[in-house]
Amino acid sequence: MSKRTVLNLKELKFHLTPDQVVTDSDLLTLYGQDWLKQWNGKAGAVVFPKSTEDVVHIVNWAKSHKISLIPSGGRTGLSGGATALKGELVVSFDKMNHLSDFNPVEQTVLVEPGVVTQTLQEFALERDCFFPVSFAAEGSSQIGGNIATNAGGVHVIRYGTMRQSVLGLEVVTGEGKVLNLGRGLIKNATGYNLMNLFIGSEGTLGFITKALIKLLSPPPKDPLVFLFSVENKSHIPKLYQHFKTQIAPMAFEMFTDKALNHVMESSDAVFPLENRSPFYILMEIEESDKEKAFDLFEKALNDNLLQDGTLSQNQTQARELWKFRENITESLSEHQPYKNDICVRTSVMVEFLDEVEECLKKQYPEFEVIWFGHIGDGNLHINILKPKNLEKDSFLKQCEKASAILFSLVKKYQGTISAEHGIGLLKKPYLNYTRSEEEIELMKKIKRVFDPDGILNPGKIFDL
Ligand code: MLT
Ligand code: ZN
Repeated sequence: MSKRTVLNLKELKFHLTPDQVVTDSDLLTLYGQDWLKQWNGKAGAVVFPKSTEDVVHIVNWAKSHKISLIPSGGRTGLSGGATALKGELVVSFDKMNHLSDFNPVEQTVLVEPGVVTQTLQEFALERDCFFPVSFAAEGSSQIGGNIATNAGGVHVIRYGTMRQSVLGLEVVTGEGKVLNLGRGLIKNATGYNLMNLFIGSEGTLGFITKALIKLLSPPPKDPLVFLFSVENKSHIPKLYQHFKTQIAPMAFEMFTDKALNHVMESSDAVFPLENRSPFYILMEIEESDKEKAFDLFEKALNDNLLQDGTLSQNQTQARELWKFRENITESLSEHQPYKNDICVRTSVMVEFLDEVEECLKKQYPEFEVIWFGHIGDGNLHINILKPKNLEKDSFLKQCEKASAILFSLVKKYQGTISAEHGIGLLKKPYLNYTRSEEEIELMKKIKRVFDPDGILNPGKIFDL
């Protein structure tokens, strides 16, 4: 058991209102962990800043008392990045959730970190713009967390990751300094891009207190969704190439029949294709590409690259088709999956998958392994399900051994052990499978520059 910190909150409360510091036991548990729940995190207290000044006050207090701070957004993370293991002070951004300063000329909006992803998507649409970052947890995830993990999602192939949507950041460093970075400039050739350091830093360098977000326009009008069944895994990258050379799909997602089984078991959805197949592709396109996409579909069907398919006829059907992909994570949650979020270059994906499958089957024949992911960008989610009769601890130990095998293959194919979920606690022991010792040393030096006392999300990504 790690030693828990005892927090003396009297001084901290001095500048804050009573509703901003919480110590109710169930809230300490709720705010002490993310969706992964692999660790029984529990906060020592939860503080809810309402402004940048509050964050500065909290950081300065923590700095002078050597208290560790854990940032908390929507807690939808899947790598333990927002877990409080030792009774640390959790800083929740729930009360910093304002959107302001919409700029119709530049199509930017200033958001506080606690703005929910879906709220920003809706805000954009109401102004005839589009915020493209989209994933299953968008109804709860917050923009600050998305930036801190450089969130990906289903539209990366067309619009990039969260990084591509950020034009400015205000951050409070571990020294309590407020930095105004990026400033909305598209071009700026004045030395190092400090803003980019904070994107994907998992709250270890500074707390994001404002973000200037770039919106796009016009929003895609009534996107259509194709669902294809595919017999042969090696056809998947060929299909992606087939479509993307002629049209620009917004999403190109894959899931296996095993993944579909779990979705079907946990819902009353009716699968629209006549026959089941080992793999499925969900492709989202713009309405204007409909005819071209249909011709390409027919050609792929004739060439036997795919077996069957259906196309949404309206937005309700499009949403229904999306559910077969988006509901996978939730349908697996009762099996306490050990999650993996790897990425390899798309041209080597099939070869990589074959090797991984063979290895896991040989070493862990008793484990059910579920694949799905963002095939268009090489990001695969490999979920190992816990057999019902296996104790959680021995399951995790076996998964850790399996990780070493999987990550050796990731290294062999020069991929990454995390594409979008982040390192957090879950992947910390394996960071050196993707980053060199020199890189890790440099990252630690950078951490010390922004957070010399090591109070910001300590123990995440690496140990100092
Ligand atoms: C997804 O793509 O659905 C998410 O990254 C969640 C997950 O991996 O379970
Ligand atoms: Zn994903």
